[in-house]
Amino acid sequence: GAFDGKQSSGAAPPHVLVFPFPLQGHVTPMLKLAEVLSLSGIRVTFVSTERNQRRLLSSASVRARLARRPGLHLRCIPEDFPKNNPRNFADAAQMIQEFDAAAQPRLREILSSGSGGADPEGEPPVTCVVADALIKLAVDVAVDLGVPIIGFRTSSACSFWADQCIPDLIATGVITYQDGCDLDELVSWLPGTESFLRRRDLPSLCRVVDTDDPAMQVLRGMTQNVARYQGIIFNTAEFAEPTVLAHVRGQVSTYPIGPLHGLLQTVEHMKGAAGDGGVDGVPFSCNSTSLLQEDRACMEWLDAKPPASVVYVSFGSIALVLREHLLEIWHGLVNSGYHFLWVVRPGFVVDGGGNGGDWPAEAGEGAKGRGYRVEWAPQEEVLGHPAVGCFLTHSGWNSTIEGLWAGVPMACCPNLADQYLSRRMIAELWKIGVEIKNTCDRAAVEKAVREVMGGERASEIRAAAASMSKTAREGVEEGGSSYMNMERLIQDIRAMSS
Ligand code: UDX
Repeated sequence: GAFDGKQSSGAAPPHVLVFPFPLQGHVTPMLKLAEVLSLSGIRVTFVSTERNQRRLLSSASVRARLARRPGLHLRCIPEDFPKNNPRNFADAAQMIQEFDAAAQPRLREILSSGSGGADPEGEPPVTCVVADALIKLAVDVAVDLGVPIIGFRTSSACSFWADQCIPDLIATGVITYQDGCDLDELVSWLPGTESFLRRRDLPSLCRVVDTDDPAMQVLRGMTQNVARYQGIIFNTAEFAEPTVLAHVRGQVSTYPIGPLHGLLQTVEHMKGAAGDGGVDGVPFSCNSTSLLQEDRACMEWLDAKPPASVVYVSFGSIALVLREHLLEIWHGLVNSGYHFLWVVRPGFVVDGGGNGGDWPAEAGEGAKGRGYRVEWAPQEEVLGHPAVGCFLTHSGWNSTIEGLWAGVPMACCPNLADQYLSRRMIAELWKIGVEIKNTCDRAAVEKAVREVMGGERASEIRAAAASMSKTAREGVEEGGSSYMNMERLIQDIRAMSS
């Protein structure tokens, strides 16, 4: 098979440059892809910003694991990027443009080295680029230098599809948000989503009705770039988004190979590279890609809890929360009566002026002994722990796919961008969780948590989550759809290199 690292005779050895956008939600799936490729016998250069590389390698167990990936090399762009996390799409759009300008020369240098013996490190030339589809410069440089390029969209296929369609739908006045419009109306504008998508589920960008808005321009640029890729990789699975993927395929060749952390486990087992031993009490199999230091003490706290008794609460790597909203969520959790493990990143709590706030004294330490707070958790492991019975999540795509994989029912409290789409898929399309529809106030949080943990529909939701998790696992096993799509991706990469 393609995973066994054999190249047809005479062909140049493939060398893939993997280039993520420098945020956690992008680095995570793209590093996992880089690891899968390297275990399959392909040389990979993984590019990060200097700061992200430093953060990634600050963990001894990550250093030890990556050293065991043959042919995986890390290189960095001398940038401390981003300065701040984006708060909305306008911020993200600006960040995309700044990153494009800053990283362009370095990428050009990496892509043009290796040819004609000009490369001081003696590296073979890059034969294929796998770049985050947010990074426009990568397409420009790769096309210019004649190197084939495959895009990687780290969000759902549904979100990609919405982005492809939205600029035109707005320009032609099809999408409207007049005052008083019915947010619960099912929308018929996005082919493949008619059975479940409501107006309120569309990405927050749809509220930007001005087509000259800079953020809208960036989106349009991304949309137009799609035709320049050889194909697009998604960290999703065939069974999760079948109708949307069918539509996307009409525009571009797709590689749905998710959940990538599951696929990586399969390939590790095949190659005998799975976690024997470990470093500092962390088994290699944990496959952490965290940019923040994980607080592993919460695993022991979970060990002492009965099965399915704890709510795990995390809002991802970007979201900020107003102090008063945080208190509402806290009251909701306390009032639900369940134990909870809560990730509160440094800088997560802000005051009305957007400045860093403190953890509110009212929220006490430990919520009467029922709550446990960490700055960053080993999330994949936490979700896999039997004590966790509910995931209160912002519905970021990585969290969604990790919750799905673990079979943990979710209560969804989205914050921005594509997260509303994921919430709807979780609650309505897959029925593996519940939505918090409007504000995450204490009553809504308490209700959602109770519904998932022990309400009337709890066992139904739990059964659906278990069944979806099983399907996801089958998909990454030999012969499964994500496995086969990965095989096809590797074959295509080898063919592009020859
Ligand atoms: C955002 C968007 O919401 C997402 O849909 C988009 O595709 C990328 O940008 P983010 O806020 O980072 O992402 O959330 P998410 O996509 O869920 O990624 C967060 C990652 O951090 C997950 O892989 C999660 O496992 C990890 N994490 C989070 C930890 O490892 N520990 C934590 O304590 C919290």
